[in-house]
Amino acid sequence: MTLPQPRSVPRHLAVIMDGNGRWAERRRRPRVIGHRAGARAVNLCIDYCLQHGIEALTLFAFSSENWGRPEDEVGALMKLFLNALEREVDELHRRGVRLRFIGERDRFQPEILARMRDAERHTVGNRTLHLVVAASYGGRQDVAQAARALAEDVAAGRLRPDEIDEAAVAARMALADLPPPDLFIRTGGDHRISNFLLWQLAYTELWFTETLWPDLDAATLDRALDDFAGRERRFGLTSAQVAPVPSHLPDRNDA
Ligand code: IPE
Ligand code: IPE
Ligand code: MG
Repeated sequence: MTLPQPRSVPRHLAVIMDGNGRWAERRRRPRVIGHRAGARAVNLCIDYCLQHGIEALTLFAFSSENWGRPEDEVGALMKLFLNALEREVDELHRRGVRLRFIGERDRFQPEILARMRDAERHTVGNRTLHLVVAASYGGRQDVAQAARALAEDVAAGRLRPDEIDEAAVAARMALADLPPPDLFIRTGGDHRISNFLLWQLAYTELWFTETLWPDLDAATLDRALDDFAGRERRFGLTSAQVAPVPSHLPDRNDA
């Protein structure tokens, strides 16, 4: 059995960008001001990943449940999303970023949908950083759509029920073609998953900070990566099994 090799830098980072509303409320400003400030932190986070050789970044931008917020806040968030798509995609493309969206797309207005599709098509060949934006995304919805896809394959005779195993499910979940997130970061001080990647986070290292998303800086991300580098990921095995083999010894998997 080949064990995942310990790495000090995560290949895939998944982030819940939380705390925009409180950032604004502390300044006695409307919540939308916090969302605007949050957009700047997104750029900082992308820059950081590019500088540190992180291969994939998944950002939780808007959850299935966030549709239930007051209409004016949802409207303001949609406007910001559209502005960001209009403003940032060319620059991301220039920097070699591939952009992708996960979530229930048909809930977006046609104008936003078209921009999302264009951004994906425009950047599909890029390799520097794989940027995934989870928008109108819910982990439970993701599991439900995978179950539906499995049922459709069975009904069409493409799959037998006894062929449904973890790999068959995983192949139908969002992000199936990426390594699972190594490190999860949530800003804003709450210690929960809030219906983010439920399946994909099974063995992800979790890291939480009180820092509100608009206050994100490189020092906070450094702390998260330092913490990650010091962790032992055991994937259910023992410490002895996952300890790195000293370079002068043959690989125990070759024995
Ligand atoms: C995260 O910030 C952004 C979205 C959920 C869209 P919040 O808006 O949840 O900010 P807080 O948690 O209320 O401070
Ligand atoms: C999670 O934050 C969703 C995003 C950051 C997009 P929420 O603010 O919606 O989560 P809860 O309500 O605190 O769990
Ligand atoms: Mg929140």
